[in-house]
Amino acid sequence: MQKKLAEAAKYIQDTKKCSPKVGIILGSGLGAFVDKIENPTIISYNDIPHFHRTTVEGHKGRLIIGKVDNVEVVILQGRFHCYEGLSMDDVVFPTRLLSKLGAEILVLTNAAGGINEKYRAGELVAIEDHINMMAKNPLIGDNDNEMGPRFPDMTKAYCPELREIVKACAKEQNYEMKSGVYAGVLGPTYETPSEVKMLRIIGADLVGMSTVPECIAANHIGMKVCGISCVTNMAAGIENVVLKHEHIKDEALKVMELFSNILLNSVKKFGKL
Ligand code: HPA
Repeated sequence: MQKKLAEAAKYIQDTKKCSPKVGIILGSGLGAFVDKIENPTIISYNDIPHFHRTTVEGHKGRLIIGKVDNVEVVILQGRFHCYEGLSMDDVVFPTRLLSKLGAEILVLTNAAGGINEKYRAGELVAIEDHINMMAKNPLIGDNDNEMGPRFPDMTKAYCPELREIVKACAKEQNYEMKSGVYAGVLGPTYETPSEVKMLRIIGADLVGMSTVPECIAANHIGMKVCGISCVTNMAAGIENVVLKHEHIKDEALKVMELFSNILLNSVKKFGKL
């Protein structure tokens, strides 16, 4: 794993020397944030050694190196999911690569179903914790002690300090951002209404098919994590609608301006930490 990471990092450093403080993984429909980056260098996932191609529509498959003000960032536009049939190692390879490139902070964004009935489609929510319902964990297997501990603490898996910054930036945009617990499921089916009821009972406010593996790998490796969900739909059974991936992408696009402003201002502040 270390060798593969070193080869991928070398390819990127040879293409464009960088020492990012912040890494950002963009979820379904949230890719337009990339347009806000100054002087971007764009690298296709297909050119990065040991990287997979994305297979999901709405996920582009590009790594972007650039700046927000003076803060160096590396953005991953398009992520890998377990439901694509990839191993957990492959799903979290990009997260580990961001750390290898120097990122200390990881921003995880995603499209999610709203379970909490106080949410509405189009809402942006700061992730305060997660529940791993994937029955998988990227740290299963021999532990790489160079990377992190065998039994990582997950008490503050989503850094409260970063979350407060994001919520303050939302407030500056006149947006009261709520916090919530994200349940990560395997997919690719959306949930049944009964599964949504179960997730609500066990304490989830949001549900999605990503983020949990990356958050675990990032905590293992010592990165601070910040998570933002875009509620693209209320989860199954809450409203009388059929869930479609195209609608979910469209809903994410509608909040793009607000999402971009909050994220840009947050990254500027992360740069000062
Ligand atoms: N369930 C799971 N993943 C999702 C959903 C959902 O309702 N919406 C967007 N991603």
